[in-house]
Amino acid sequence: TRVAVVGGGRSSEHHVSLASAAGIRAALDPYRYAVLGLTIEQDGGWSTADRVRLPYGAVDAARILSAVDVVIPALHGPRGEDGTFAGFMDVLGVPCTGSGVRAGALAMDKWATKLVAAELGIATAPGVLVTAAQALDVLGPGPGAGVELPVVVKPVAAGSSHGVTLVTDVAGLGPAVAAALALDDRVLLEQVVRGREVDVAVLERPDGELVVSPGLEIRLRHGAAFFDTAGKYDGGADLVTPADLPAPVSADLGEAARTLYRALGCAGVARFDFFVTDSGVVLNEVNTSPGFTPRSQVPRMFAAAGIGYGRLLDLMIRSALV
Ligand code: DAL
Ligand code: MG
Repeated sequence: TRVAVVGGGRSSEHHVSLASAAGIRAALDPYRYAVLGLTIEQDGGWSTADRVRLPYGAVDAARILSAVDVVIPALHGPRGEDGTFAGFMDVLGVPCTGSGVRAGALAMDKWATKLVAAELGIATAPGVLVTAAQALDVLGPGPGAGVELPVVVKPVAAGSSHGVTLVTDVAGLGPAVAAALALDDRVLLEQVVRGREVDVAVLERPDGELVVSPGLEIRLRHGAAFFDTAGKYDGGADLVTPADLPAPVSADLGEAARTLYRALGCAGVARFDFFVTDSGVVLNEVNTSPGFTPRSQVPRMFAAAGIGYGRLLDLMIRSALV
């Protein structure tokens, strides 16, 4: 089976994606797969995995990708995880692991995810949407948009906590909105949810059955205000797998994750990030292309369920080829 692994991408998560792609390439069984790596550079050009530029960029990439059996997009963030890349493969008619255009677009948009979750009876943090055009009103004199502090300010579409700020005093609101607007023209202001942070992954097997992973709890190290970029990539948090949870809480998390997976129309692997609060589970966000190095959350979660990294990739490839 000829497999192309695509990494990089034009979002702020370019380097995270390069690490995911390198991990995947190294783990694919060489007796089973002929593996080819491609990189999308930050300027939109295309290269091989060892960074030799393809002279005709996307045109060369289209030709190369058309000749493989399946593509694994290890892309995170906008112009990759948001359905754009899945759409490119769809038009070329090349099977691709993971979610298609619709699920990628809905899940990348934290506001759209909130609306879908509400319709399904799954709680999310109460929040307001602020567009670039409205930002001046929010930041102007007076209380602005009725925002009660503290709030978490985040771009509607981004990842790895890029552009996310916890705002505790009114002076911090303007810079936080500006930081989020640097990555998207829509921003979310969300109430802070108090609870344990627990993530659950879902995989659709080739036979169509869903496998729900054990929970993974994120325990912040002393001093961290939230699970920020440093917590994610510089060892600033402990990832407890499997999370130690009462059975009814695990059941609620699994049920919410399955419901969201099906309602959004996800495929392959997706990771659902929750808060476990005194009044039940609260969805934080959905990732249709979660971090995928061997040390990332999703491989750890499935390893805890007896599905190792290589086997997880096999299942994702077989599901994509059904
Ligand atoms: N956005 C990062 C890669 C994640 O969700 O794991
Ligand atoms: Mg995310």
